[in-house]
Amino acid sequence: MGITGSIAAYKTAVLTRLLIRSGAEVKIIMTPAAKDFVTPLSLSTLSRNPVLSDLAENDSWSNHVMLGRWADLMLIAPLSCNTLAKMANGICDNLLMAVYLSATCPVAVAPAMDEDMWHHDKTRENLKKLSETGIRILPVESGELASGLVGEGRMAEPEAILQWLMHYFATRNELSGKRVLVTAGPTQEMIDPVRYIGNHSTGKMGIAIAEEMLFRGASVTLILGPTYLSVNPAIKLVRVRSAEDMYLACDQVFPETDIAVMSAAVADYRPLEQAPQKIKKTESALNLQLTRTKDILKSLGEKKKSNQFLAGFALETENEKANALKKLAEKNADMIVLNSLGDEGAGFGHDTNKITIFDKQGGVHGFEMKPKKEVAADIVNTIIQLFHA
Ligand code: CTP
Repeated sequence: MGITGSIAAYKTAVLTRLLIRSGAEVKIIMTPAAKDFVTPLSLSTLSRNPVLSDLAENDSWSNHVMLGRWADLMLIAPLSCNTLAKMANGICDNLLMAVYLSATCPVAVAPAMDEDMWHHDKTRENLKKLSETGIRILPVESGELASGLVGEGRMAEPEAILQWLMHYFATRNELSGKRVLVTAGPTQEMIDPVRYIGNHSTGKMGIAIAEEMLFRGASVTLILGPTYLSVNPAIKLVRVRSAEDMYLACDQVFPETDIAVMSAAVADYRPLEQAPQKIKKTESALNLQLTRTKDILKSLGEKKKSNQFLAGFALETENEKANALKKLAEKNADMIVLNSLGDEGAGFGHDTNKITIFDKQGGVHGFEMKPKKEVAADIVNTIIQLFHA
């Protein structure tokens, strides 16, 4: 557990006690500023381990590399605005940062700061950077702040952190040993060397699913169309451009796959011919002849073995349920995730999504509008439930 300089540091004494009572082994690192809020003596007594703070102590060197390898999880609570900024930028100016930068274990943070700092653009940007590298960010709570103001930014209460950790350890290995294939993003179908037919998909939903699968212990291959988004480096990433490239990559990986989730927005048509040179404009209209691309989900559905699980998506603007059920049957999928463009905040590019899942056994699973990362957890939970059924 890393403790940084925030008034919420006083809560770590209770948190340490709760962790020890739950059977955890706790080693604590404090930043120099944290010592202004809670004493190393209290924490070493409660954690039953020496509290570390400096890279060198009593003429001996603290082995930061081994600490990040020893832990099953590194929790930084409270996470101050300053340490957040250091983490987002890889600044290594104390023992906590050295352990963070050399940690091979998963990392979770429980931020604590004043409401204005919490909402600052820089804080948002830094949190986004952390979450993109797979760091779990525990939600802050609303209430009285150190400034005397009331608002968002309080560190989660120790009981809530403990509950989060219990859930984390209960679910993290559910897919261990399983091989998962995910497709995400748009495809681009070249018209000539400079133009293509594309769509508005960013890959956000599929990347969130791939990361959630990774988090549950699966070995994940992500076949990703063109996107500016970054992906957790522990995911095996195959970048593709066209529907044909995506089909070939999927075809190769699918036989060795236990669970496949096709969330890419694959073009249904491509230009029949790609012009070798840039097409020059003329006074007359231009007709492009399009031909069908391969339906990847359908082709995998045809090859699917009884021990493989296949999930597809449906994006509908009308007759949503009927169309989703039609896709479920026609593509021989085990489930279809329906997201409708009709809902404000759902679909392409948004950070939120609203889905309904239809499974092969006739089950219907409805969910509220929520952030895509939470939607990904709902999708993965449903897959695990159906896969083990
Ligand atoms: N899909 C695919 N290969 C394609 C087209 C779609 O694998 N060439 C997959 C998508 O990844 C998604 C599902 O099929 O999981 C549904 O895609 P969608 O475009 O909504 O449906 P289509 O089958 O293409 O039907 P339509 O365009 O008529 O709605």
